[in-house]
Amino acid sequence: MASITIRNLDEQTKQLLREQAARHGRSMEEEVRHMLRDATTPPSVSADDPPPQPAEAGGSLSGKRILLVITGGIAAYKSLDLIRRLRERGAAVRPVMTEAAKQFVSPLAVGALAADKVFEDLFSREDEQDVGHIRLARSCELVLVAPATADFIGKMALGIANDLASTIVLATNSKVLIAPAMNPAMWNHLAVQRNVETVKRDRVEVVGPMRGEMAESGEAGLGRMAEPLDIVAVVEALLDDGPKPLAGKTAIVTSGPTHEPIDPVRYIANRSSGKQGHAIAAALARLGADVTLVSGPVTIADPQGTKTIHVESARDMLNAVEGQLPADIAVMVAAVADWRAAGQSGEKIKKKPGEAPPPLMLTENPDILKTVGHHAKRPTLVVGFAAETQNLEDNARAKLQRKGADWIVANDVSPDTGIMGGDHNRVRIVTHSGIEDWPKMDKQSVAERLAREIVKSLTGSSKTG
Ligand code: CTP
Repeated sequence: MASITIRNLDEQTKQLLREQAARHGRSMEEEVRHMLRDATTPPSVSADDPPPQPAEAGGSLSGKRILLVITGGIAAYKSLDLIRRLRERGAAVRPVMTEAAKQFVSPLAVGALAADKVFEDLFSREDEQDVGHIRLARSCELVLVAPATADFIGKMALGIANDLASTIVLATNSKVLIAPAMNPAMWNHLAVQRNVETVKRDRVEVVGPMRGEMAESGEAGLGRMAEPLDIVAVVEALLDDGPKPLAGKTAIVTSGPTHEPIDPVRYIANRSSGKQGHAIAAALARLGADVTLVSGPVTIADPQGTKTIHVESARDMLNAVEGQLPADIAVMVAAVADWRAAGQSGEKIKKKPGEAPPPLMLTENPDILKTVGHHAKRPTLVVGFAAETQNLEDNARAKLQRKGADWIVANDVSPDTGIMGGDHNRVRIVTHSGIEDWPKMDKQSVAERLAREIVKSLTGSSKTG
């Protein structure tokens, strides 16, 4: 085996070695041992290396580097999908996991989906050479904590840094976004609410949580982590540095279903999820419009960058919409209930043994699109939707005339299309001058393309980046 004598090295090499050893606080012999070990071990990823190339370039997050901190909650399984969705849009995702997160998802799966090393240990010799955690914290445009547990939010609020993940959120000077996920009782606890307010004051952005069933307990309430696509939409809004051709324009968007009460516990509703309307509101906001979203009851998060007014019934929705006029743009996406119960009972209607079920008398709701389309303060561009299960084009054309709209975005909502409540849409744009057929795409893409068409129509320009 060959042996090296430092004494035999030339003066210049010895000086370089001396300086390098001093920088690392090692003797010259130790430094040589480290160099040899590093040279003979297979390469591993260090904080200093550039993140790997994203799966696809040219997406809405192309060139963006996201440090994804996964903390220990059952919602961590959704982080796998989140990584995929972020990378699909062109982002490079560098994962950091807490000890507890590893109880819920394996670093192997996380690393494979991110195509990057998973950073886990504050005291890793490899990662920490040259203060790895500081460099990790800074080598990104966004630190995204998803899921963010009550424990982790508490640490953030207090500035506690006792593991790699919590140290990174303190050391970063990039934007920080958290997606809380916890049991509803925990979310509603005063301590957690206080901590959330504190981190918001510290300019941390928060997405969700949503209302829904808890995976672990069979309980329901506010506490589910926002869906990956909703988180992605917020990430896009936060990292957006694109042009703002709709700056100075105001827009009203309606979204979701309406609930029409029968009595204090029962209501008439429909299957609308609000995904398409919310995505359109977010897309218009990204292009610089001042957007008010009037949303019926949905379980998805309010879109980033919009003012959201929450309503229940068609009449509430109409009031909210009229309250926002005048506006430049109206996009009425809500699946408004056409009818409501003729007389709402103030008490819960009881079953009476031996008697027939009570008749449900209906009365017509106001038509919000039609009201806006014929309003004295009619917006410059009025866009409606048409949910059809038959004669799509004829019905859409009739709606265009009847409702005083400029465009109708027609979609086939027959059950086998999976459009109502699903993530995809296939639409036809019906205008006074013709029909344009768009291919099937996800609801985000429909929203972005529609927003670009709105820019063209209002500004005569298609330069939206
Ligand atoms: N709309 C509305 N107010 C209503 C009903 C519908 O603003 N009371 C709007 C919807 O937001 C959508 C358009 O009108 O932009 C068409 O909605 P759709 O449900 O397809 O049509 P309806 O007018 O309800 O007619 P029908 O149910 O007979 O198809």
